[in-house]
Amino acid sequence: MNIYMPAEDSYLLSETLENYLINLINNNNNSSSKNQYKSSSFKTHSSLSSNKIINNGSNRNKKIKILDMGSGSGIQAKTCRKLGFKDVLTADVNPNAVRNLKKQGFRAIKTNLFLKLYKRKGDLSGKTLVPIRFDLIIFNPPYLPEDKLEPKDSKLATTAGKKGYELIIKFLKQAKSHLNKKGAIMLLFSSLSQPSVIKNKAKQLGYNLKLLKKQKLFFEELYVYELSDLHRNVNIIN
Ligand SMILES: C[S@@+](CC[C@H](N)C(=O)[O-])C[C@H]1O[C@@H](n2cnc3c(N)ncnc32)[C@H](O)[C@@H]1O
Repeated sequence: MNIYMPAEDSYLLSETLENYLINLINNNNNSSSKNQYKSSSFKTHSSLSSNKIINNGSNRNKKIKILDMGSGSGIQAKTCRKLGFKDVLTADVNPNAVRNLKKQGFRAIKTNLFLKLYKRKGDLSGKTLVPIRFDLIIFNPPYLPEDKLEPKDSKLATTAGKKGYELIIKFLKQAKSHLNKKGAIMLLFSSLSQPSVIKNKAKQLGYNLKLLKKQKLFFEELYVYELSDLHRNVNIIN
């Protein structure tokens, strides 16, 4: 099974993620003792200087737990690592991707969405499974409607279902119980994924949505959204 090689969607998400993480660090560095990352303070790339923060190793925000779901080549996880975020778990349903991620030194797990992302609770029986939780979940999912002519192999990385949103909605349903208090999701999808269906479903599930970035391509428009739990304060750190 081929590993998805970075394309426009990957680069858009990676650039948005880089800004988001830089902003997270800068917010932590620049504010007072009660410093908290506010979702609404996302800035554009031009207002930030990555050189300014890369040298700062003593940042507690860099300790956040990150999940790179559908990691593929690991491009998003590499962005996190480049900025000094070390607690990054990569996950993919494609065993070749997982093998390759491990070779690159990432913790990597083969899983269909969150199926394997549970741990045993320390009770006497040890039988209770509890969701592993993260502060930030990144996902560049398969987001296209099914094209019957596309080979099965590549569909795994491109196709979200017949309508282009099915897997994304499944992800959003499952992700809720894997987010830490004040955690957030960074999700990419396309104008071809029926964005209004995804956004309505996300709202129904209790997410707050914020558009971070969009990009027009030849046949479609790509969007990167931040989703957080409506019923919790939107802060990534405690
Ligand atoms: C569009 S690619 C993105 C790859 C990479 N994150 C990037 O940005 O280039 C989607 C990835 O999701 C993975 N994937 C598809 N279905 C999945 C599932 N049910 N659970 C976990 N990963 C899945 C694919 O194998 C592929 O690596």
